[in-house]
Amino acid sequence: MPRQFFVGGNFKMNPITRESKLALAKTLNDAQIDPSVEVVIAPPAIYLLSLREVIRPDVKVAAQNAHYKPNGAFTGEISPAMLADAQIPYVILGHSERRTLFHETSDLVAQKTRAAIETGLSVILCVGETLAERESNKTTQVIEEQLKPVVDTLSEEQWSKIVVAYEPVWAIGTGKVATAAQAQETHAAIRAFLAKAVSPAVSENTRIIYGGSVTAANCKELSKQLDVDGFLVGGASLKPEFVDIINARK
Ligand code: G3P
Repeated sequence: MPRQFFVGGNFKMNPITRESKLALAKTLNDAQIDPSVEVVIAPPAIYLLSLREVIRPDVKVAAQNAHYKPNGAFTGEISPAMLADAQIPYVILGHSERRTLFHETSDLVAQKTRAAIETGLSVILCVGETLAERESNKTTQVIEEQLKPVVDTLSEEQWSKIVVAYEPVWAIGTGKVATAAQAQETHAAIRAFLAKAVSPAVSENTRIIYGGSVTAANCKELSKQLDVDGFLVGGASLKPEFVDIINARK
């Protein structure tokens, strides 16, 4: 069965007004969206419920982070159990901004991933190398090291709840997108790793999406690559061109 194309919008710590939030929802609500695409938007936590109220029902909402404990003395955190209780279906974990700015290790990301899945959530699991790592030919090694703790902690069945987002750190918010060939090469390497480390079925069925300076202008070429199953979009998800990215394969 072909993998369903997936497009996520990671709003990061934007937008900041009620009006801009409503404008984003209206853009999506008024748009003709390819019905074969799974669309998920990830606003800041404070907007999750209010955005879900106004967004069309075929667009899902996702949290940008979650703790691994169900509750407790963790000031400022939100638990997967709370997201599940609020019927938020997805959470982004392991984003490079969380790994770098908030010092999240791959072991912590794996712990969070397992907790989220065991609570019934699906996970957009982000991996990716820095420019220095790419230039020293360590891309595959770095990504395998990021995935390994997740492989070690999940059962084979639990992989059906994972979408892997390949986001090269050097392409995030820089306007410097990976070429279609670079994306395809790394996605194929991730798929080969999943075949070896988990199973051929998981490798075949897991969606691997690309993130990093995706725009309406570059999404079509990227979307034609065999192992590119969609996108995780930052900056452009806040603009009307997000619709063109959702419809990249149309
Ligand atoms: O998670 C999406 C992201 O990190 C890519 O951001 O702004 O380069 O599309 P951007």
